[in-house]
Amino acid sequence: MRSLLVIGNWKLNGNKNTITNLTIALVNAFYNISKCSVAIAPPVMYLDVVKRYLLNSHIQLCAQNVDIHLSGAFTGDISAEMLQDLNTRYALIGHSERRIHHKENDADIAKKFFILKKVGLIPILCIGENKKEYDSGYTQSVCINQIKAIIKLLGIEAFKNSVIAYEPIWAIGSGVSASPENVQLVHKSIRDYIASYDASIADNITIQYGGSVTPENVIQFFDQKDIDGVLVGAASLNANSFSMIVQTAEKHKKPYPD
Ligand code: PGA
Repeated sequence: MRSLLVIGNWKLNGNKNTITNLTIALVNAFYNISKCSVAIAPPVMYLDVVKRYLLNSHIQLCAQNVDIHLSGAFTGDISAEMLQDLNTRYALIGHSERRIHHKENDADIAKKFFILKKVGLIPILCIGENKKEYDSGYTQSVCINQIKAIIKLLGIEAFKNSVIAYEPIWAIGSGVSASPENVQLVHKSIRDYIASYDASIADNITIQYGGSVTPENVIQFFDQKDIDGVLVGAASLNANSFSMIVQTAEKHKKPYPD
């Protein structure tokens, strides 16, 4: 059975002081959380700072990126083993900001997926279409192709204990989220596609939505059958907003199939 997963992606924001304060506020706010899963993804250089405050907390650590190598002459990169060393549980891969600004392609992302699984971290594979693709009706084929690239290299088994985050690029940071009904259709098509390989993996995989999620709109996403959580950017930088989103997840009774 899938439980809701809420992740806060802090992107390139904050400093030691603000990140410490935000972490402490969230640890205090989430002392009673037990049903949904929560993770925060601070900038990588603060993972160790944040980790110290999470010792007895329900909040898990998430990295925003990972390198394809485990060690060696790769200046500026961070390995999956280093993330594991800091008790990091999840890592985002294929976020559109990395696909766009760092020219990451599906092959690079598949290698990242592989290395995370090898080390025992949970990959959060971000997928989604741009505005032009959305307007042309290509949303589902873009998403399926991004998933196919992983299956081609690693096989369907790789999706066991993995997460997919569907994030339409045009909805990220725009203040305009996708409609929950459309997101449900996309999530269902993703789950059906995975089920065409393996029904049990499809049933168990967590598929999050991301893109301008707020405390006000989040419940409409949770109300959809195939939306298993949210990946939150801007609203996760504010302790009150992120707490409201997590409390909504905690209280939600998902209409899962029997
Ligand atoms: P947003 O970002 O919530 O600010 O739209 C989401 C994301 O990029 O993961």
